[in-house]
Amino acid sequence: MRVSVIGTGYVGLVSGACLAAKNHSVVCVDVDRTKVDAVNAGKCPIHEEGLPGIIARHAGSTLTATTDLAAAVHETDLTLVAAPTPFDGKRIDLSYVHEIARRIGEALACKDDYHVVVVKSTVVPGTTDEVVGPAVAAAAGKEPGRDFGLGMNPEFLSEGVAVADFMQPDRIVAGGIDERTRDAIAALYDGFPGVPLLRVNNRTAEMMKYASNALQALMISFANEIADLCEAVGDVDIVEVMRGVHSMKELTPFHERAGRVKAPITSFLFPGCGFGGSCFPKDLKAITAHGRALDLPMKVLDAVISVNAGRALRMVDLAEAGLGGLAGRRVTVLGLAFKQGTDDMRESPAIPIVLELQRRGAVVTAFDPVAANEAARIFGTAAPRLAASLEEAVRDSDAILLVTRWPEFGDLPRLVAARGAQSPLLIDGRRMIDPRAVPRYRGIGLRERAAS
Ligand SMILES: NC(=O)c1ccc[n+]([C@@H]2O[C@H](COP(=O)([O-])OP(=O)(O)OC[C@H]3O[C@@H](n4cnc5c(N)ncnc54)[C@H](O)[C@@H]3O)[C@@H](O)[C@H]2O)c1
Repeated sequence: MRVSVIGTGYVGLVSGACLAAKNHSVVCVDVDRTKVDAVNAGKCPIHEEGLPGIIARHAGSTLTATTDLAAAVHETDLTLVAAPTPFDGKRIDLSYVHEIARRIGEALACKDDYHVVVVKSTVVPGTTDEVVGPAVAAAAGKEPGRDFGLGMNPEFLSEGVAVADFMQPDRIVAGGIDERTRDAIAALYDGFPGVPLLRVNNRTAEMMKYASNALQALMISFANEIADLCEAVGDVDIVEVMRGVHSMKELTPFHERAGRVKAPITSFLFPGCGFGGSCFPKDLKAITAHGRALDLPMKVLDAVISVNAGRALRMVDLAEAGLGGLAGRRVTVLGLAFKQGTDDMRESPAIPIVLELQRRGAVVTAFDPVAANEAARIFGTAAPRLAASLEEAVRDSDAILLVTRWPEFGDLPRLVAARGAQSPLLIDGRRMIDPRAVPRYRGIGLRERAAS
């Protein structure tokens, strides 16, 4: 199939490259010429495991990129819309999606063939039918269902493992206004045999994405609230508590051949310094705002947001309490990306942590294995000193705040031990390090070391 993907960001680029690898003929479209040029040169503009190889293999053959949206629509049969859908402070900002829909419509105005428009962006229920369809129809002078297909195919990939998630999906959702649209989405994914394909209407597809994200975020905030209770109670470790919770047969069922198998969703039932990223925070705010607009306050999800909001500052409070004040103290922040495996810093807890440490007078050094360039861009003149290696980052610090679960940070006990009597306080925001492996340890959900 000939496919155009509008928006060559984390979702559009991964989707476009992976579909090109599945032998579709894909053209990625973006307003950002640097991304377009990178793809055409066979280079990958983002840090994502496995993606550079796919782009290098397929660029110039099944994968091309352009800034010319109209030409891309003319030359293809199906268009995926992978535009940003930020939260504007009050509600979801659909301006990018609307503008792209309008421009697709303008292109369709002078195209005779039937074309399928599929929304891949995360959009509140009703958007595809009530915003995208009418915008395309008005600009094209055509009717959805008759002249063009209108579908919704939410994306469930997770940054850091995006290629693996796309190539081995757990489900494919084919939302559409009619069977013809859903058939086109099914044909797009015919290279994924054995994966459940859920044929639904557009609103259901849109809602599935929010419900899935909200459930995962809910589990994180639940674990964090229990973690805070563990700290208040004292001498009880949230990690041990959660090990007990994970062992329930509903989370770790018994399989005759494989024995006990832990469900991956247990990874969300784990304490930490909060969720960030380009999805959970904005999606939860968007769906709760949408609920309120429909006269349905979403009390559970409001609480999920509010529990998460305090996590980053809690790390700073722990550092301040542990050091007896932050003014002039050297503090190292480990991990700037919102999660391991990516250079994406959108809504990363590291941002408020660094800024608040600085505000309270700490001298901050930060280190991230891949996000240094992104950090320099995001912090600008407020950028902390960016260390070139983990060793350099922890060499002189009074306290280390572990913020991102990068596997490299597993080496901390050795580096801390090398500091001898000058060993820094380690505040473990991801509960990665064994509390007994370093002399001065403070972890989320553990006020005192649990008695062994
Ligand atoms: N990042 C994720 O992990 C993830 C996962 C699932 C779903 N989503 C959803 O997918 C959508 C895209 O997210 P993302 O993380 O890929 O965003 P992104 O910001 O990484 O990429 C969006 C791209 O769209 C481009 N763009 C903006 N306006 C354009 C226009 N008029 N024409 C062409 N290109 C334009 C931008 O330049 C950018 O490259 C969002 O709705 C998001 O919620 C994201």
